[in-house]
Amino acid sequence: GAALVDEKPLAGRHVLITAGPTHEPIDPVRYIANRSSGRQGFAIAQAAAQAGASVTLIAGPVDLPTPHGVRRVNVETARDMAAAVEAALPADVAVMVAAVADWRVADAGAHKIKKDGSGIVPPLALVENPDILAGLCASPRRPRLVVGFAAETQDVIAHATAKLARKGADWIVGNDVSGDVMGGLRNSVHIVSADGVDSLPDLPKEAVAAALVERISRVFV
Ligand code: CTP
Ligand code: CA
Repeated sequence: GAALVDEKPLAGRHVLITAGPTHEPIDPVRYIANRSSGRQGFAIAQAAAQAGASVTLIAGPVDLPTPHGVRRVNVETARDMAAAVEAALPADVAVMVAAVADWRVADAGAHKIKKDGSGIVPPLALVENPDILAGLCASPRRPRLVVGFAAETQDVIAHATAKLARKGADWIVGNDVSGDVMGGLRNSVHIVSADGVDSLPDLPKEAVAAALVERISRVFV
């Protein structure tokens, strides 16, 4: 008989996901990075594809296989990621899971920085990277639903709530990264929106992804 539950609730929808860290060059052989593994974002991409969405996954440098049926765009830096997001529009949904480097080196040299024997340490001047999530929310091509993540080591819900307003996102998924969440297999998240806070138990990242995609699907029924 007919299915009572729509198994492809995101059919015909384009879901744009950013995942992983970014690498910001210091010189041709060195970079600034963070501990993001990309696992949570890749799991969301897989769950969205299984829900029938057309999925574009913009991935920083991670060692993960591309989920089945997902279009993957590999990037290195925050500025590359911003350009790839722009190029992937329009989208119905954006889920920005990437741990984007907040700063890059002001003038990454074309040559390896050398010790000159004097013991003088090279100064690293940093400049702020573009905020991809805030830029997307302010854009005329803003997707109907924009979801951000907030990696926090303390006061998760308070910081996520502040980011909801500051970034202009519809939902912020706050996660406590004070343990081994970054690079780990499990996550415990609080989905913060204008409707309040929905706290999930500690779950495998695949289960967090399934719950989030289920919630996204309900926006489009
Ligand atoms: N984000 C982004 N571009 C940036 C920085 C962050 O798109 N340059 C996105 C992340 O992908 C995430 C959200 O913004 O969805 C929140 O990132 P987070 O690092 O938690 O927030 P920040 O505003 O950078 O604040 P802080 O790192 O100081 O907590
Ligand atoms: Ca940040």
